[in-house]
Amino acid sequence: MQIYRQAAIYAELLKPAEDLVADVDLWVETWLPGAANSVCDPACGPGGWLEVFHRRGLRVAGNDLEAEMVREAKRRLAGGNVELTVGDMRTLRFESAPFDVGLNLHSSIGHLPDDASVRKHLRCMFAVLKPGGLYLLGATELSGSLDETPETLWSSPPTALPGGGHAAILYESTRRDPALRREEIRVLLLTKGVAGVAPVVNESYQLLTFSAAGLRSLVEEAGFQILATHHMTVEGRPDDGLVPGAGDVTLILKRP
Ligand SMILES: C[S@@+](CC[C@H](N)C(=O)[O-])C[C@H]1O[C@@H](n2cnc3c(N)ncnc32)[C@H](O)[C@@H]1O
Repeated sequence: MQIYRQAAIYAELLKPAEDLVADVDLWVETWLPGAANSVCDPACGPGGWLEVFHRRGLRVAGNDLEAEMVREAKRRLAGGNVELTVGDMRTLRFESAPFDVGLNLHSSIGHLPDDASVRKHLRCMFAVLKPGGLYLLGATELSGSLDETPETLWSSPPTALPGGGHAAILYESTRRDPALRREEIRVLLLTKGVAGVAPVVNESYQLLTFSAAGLRSLVEEAGFQILATHHMTVEGRPDDGLVPGAGDVTLILKRP
């Protein structure tokens, strides 16, 4: 996807939101016995989430399919205890494993094509976590009927980039098909004065979605225990359970 090859722009426009960082801290504090000393992200992009923990002095490790994302993450996470690899989240090879916490938010798991791939990924994540470790996994629970009403997921204001020029981004969900288990996402990136980047990048891609029961059985089959299910589009991100209609969720999983 073109957007994932604009790593420096992605890093500026999609920094972890402060209120979500506060929630993630609270979830880890609630469920991890003891302090977190190490964190990994199996689809780390430019390392936005890893940067949060790296700044606090934690040991971090990230992996991403896109070499450009990993290059940007290396630039941003220079120094300290860091491992960054280019690879597939189905075949993770972290030399610095095991970790206290794995973090894979924003439905990045939906980039995998099917359940067999999700199973492989979950087995890898189970293997790289310490016993008692947590995996905070974002996924989209989709049930009901086909819905083609466009829905804005996220937009950034025009933002000045450190390398020069400005950029803004809009994410929309344009089609949700529970029968096909796919959500279609449209991304519109607008730039001005950014060397080597087109003024308009407009692309669509599909993400794999899950039924509540299907997602539960995938994570439990891999050996994880579900501690909480936070509903990400509801005010306060409450733990309302992994139920049909849950939508965009973050599961708090424990490796027993
Ligand atoms: C939405 S971004 C998330 C980035 C980062 N985790 C964050 O929260 O900011 C999704 C990332 O998944 C990566 N990706 C897609 N398929 C992948 C795969 N099979 N294995 C590893 N990374 C993958 C993309 O290159 C992209 O950087």
